Amino acid sequence: MNCLYFAKDGTKRVGAVVINPYINAIQYLCVLPEYRRNGIGKKLLETAIQELRKKRCDHFSVEINSDLNDGYAFAKATGLTIIKQQTVFGMKIPDPLPQLENDDDE
Ligand SMILES: CC(C)(COP(=O)(O)OP(=O)(O)OC[C@H]1O[C@@H](n2cnc3c(N)ncnc32)[C@H](O)[C@@H]1OP(=O)(O)O)[C@@H](O)C(=O)NCCC(=O)NCCS
Repeated sequence: MNCLYFAKDGTKRVGAVVINPYINAIQYLCVLPEYRRNGIGKKLLETAIQELRKKRCDHFSVEINSDLNDGYAFAKATGLTIIKQQTVFGMKIPDPLPQLENDDDE
């Protein structure tokens, strides 16, 4: 099961991290733009690592989109290293959707 942790400014949620210990992964890490460069991302990463360790993970991965310069700079500054580079496939969903072959009851 995923675990979600927030960073708060008073009652306002200003950052969040999601871990999935079953796949040794940090699945989401984000800080609101106006709160960045104040150490919140680092604190969330530390929390995530502590929680992963408690759940007996001895390593973890985090996906960072290479378009996100903040993410890259943050990863380098916090001691993460590139362990794999991925190609992501996708497509535009046609509108209208094409009729599927077995889609009618006739
Ligand atoms: C990446 C992200 C979570 C960092 O959060 P943050 O609260 O700004 O991070 P911190 O303040 O703890 O930064 C720690 C260090 O990382 C480096 N760093 C972070 N953002 C940086 C940037 N935009 N440019 C250069 N260095 C940066 C700095 O060395 C910084 O230390 P410093 O401010 O004392 O110089 C935030 O920019 C974000 O939400 N980005 C969009 C989502 C994203 O990329 N997520 C993937 C992250 S793994």
